[in-house]
Amino acid sequence: MEQTAKLIVDGKTYEFPLLKGSEGEQAIDISLLRSRTGLVTYDPGYANTGSCKSSITFMDGEKGILRYRGIPVEQLAEHSTFVETAYLLINGNLPDRKQLTRFSVMLNDHSLVHEDMREFFQHFPRRAHPMGILSSMVNALRFFYPELPDQDEEINITTTRLLSKVRTMAAMSYKISRGHRVVYPRPDLLYAANFLNMMFDSPVLPYRLDPEVVHALNVFWILHADHEQNSSTAAVRLVGSSRVNLYAAISAGINALWGPLHGGANQAVVEMLTRIQESGGDPAPFVARAKDKNDSFRLMGFGHRVYKTYDPRAKIMKRVCDQVLARLRVKDPLLDIARRLEETALKDSYFIDHYLYPNVDFYSGIVLRAMGIPLNMFTVMFAIGRLPGWITQWKESIDDPEGKLHRPRQVYTGETKRDFVPLEER
Ligand code: ACO
Repeated sequence: MEQTAKLIVDGKTYEFPLLKGSEGEQAIDISLLRSRTGLVTYDPGYANTGSCKSSITFMDGEKGILRYRGIPVEQLAEHSTFVETAYLLINGNLPDRKQLTRFSVMLNDHSLVHEDMREFFQHFPRRAHPMGILSSMVNALRFFYPELPDQDEEINITTTRLLSKVRTMAAMSYKISRGHRVVYPRPDLLYAANFLNMMFDSPVLPYRLDPEVVHALNVFWILHADHEQNSSTAAVRLVGSSRVNLYAAISAGINALWGPLHGGANQAVVEMLTRIQESGGDPAPFVARAKDKNDSFRLMGFGHRVYKTYDPRAKIMKRVCDQVLARLRVKDPLLDIARRLEETALKDSYFIDHYLYPNVDFYSGIVLRAMGIPLNMFTVMFAIGRLPGWITQWKESIDDPEGKLHRPRQVYTGETKRDFVPLEER
């Protein structure tokens, strides 16, 4: 028998069906709520709203579980590469050897950026934030690569272009910002190694690729590859629901990710740790400020809308952080501060009672710093990692037979009807 939820309004009972997900999650299907009752729901920040059915990523915030297409993120971080994980997300299953080779070849074939786009990079102000530049450049890709008549081919090629070119553009923008010669992608290097080479190779100091650093970068990107209906993914789905092109929808996602409450937190964490270091290294006053209701300061890299336990990605990131720093023989004083801050916060009843634990961004900035990635590029690194998720979620929403233009309602709290008063009478 179909399970239902009952809603009683002014003594009248309405029944709504309960939906059940494959992991047992339940949701009340209120799609007919307004037409049947005249009511809308009120849910600031959509904290209780399921906006779609999705078969891509499962997370359980209470148990600290994250799986892509059913596979635990821990297994992917240990055994997979970013490109293989991207394939898994986009296509639903792990590739066989032939499929993986074909995908890698396509990524290589599409890795160059139109030479005219270099001109664009030259003309952004030197202080422009790389996330703003990236979102503009991704939007601009549409003009250089107009729509193909065959829709499946268009989606396949746009997906490959985005995955490949965004990585090239990120490295290009770094080189240009430093006034250095752009390094082109190399066909003999795989995705992550190619990125590091484009970032750091120089005619006077050839970059020496370290397999452990390449592995760490793969893990970093795997951990960011998707996270179901987070803010930037919701932005991609919402903007995409107007049927605008994929480049524009991804550009919207990049902008949503930029904010410090979302992907911008990885930059904000390192800025916060630096402030703690400059003020003598004691995290206690910062923990006290984060608890003070009259102070807007928050511990960056702590807390999550869904995770009410340790973020499973943060556990892996913490391990990667130790490994990379040991491998590169980097002694980063910020790591000691981060460890002390975590220890202090996790013992504090405020953080315990509010279920505030380190999230993925808490240790990721220290990993990126050790690799030589500049602070203002941290969120760009997150964006490269999140691309497969954004693209897959966009595709799922476009293919969804129940998919509609996203258009929430509101509860109006402004003036009721009043008449216009001519200027001379006001
Ligand atoms: N430091 C101090 N207090 C916090 C923090 C924090 N980092 N995060 C939440 N709280 C407190 C709030 O003050 C609030 O307290 P109250 O109920 O006593 O008023 C309570 O916890 C709930 O906070 P909300 O903002 O309602 O929770 P929400 O689910 O909206 O917040 C968010 C999630 C935005 C991530 C929040 O934890 C935060 O601001 N964290 C810091 C920024 C950050 O690290 N963002 C990255 C998230 S991961 C990602 O996007 C990749």
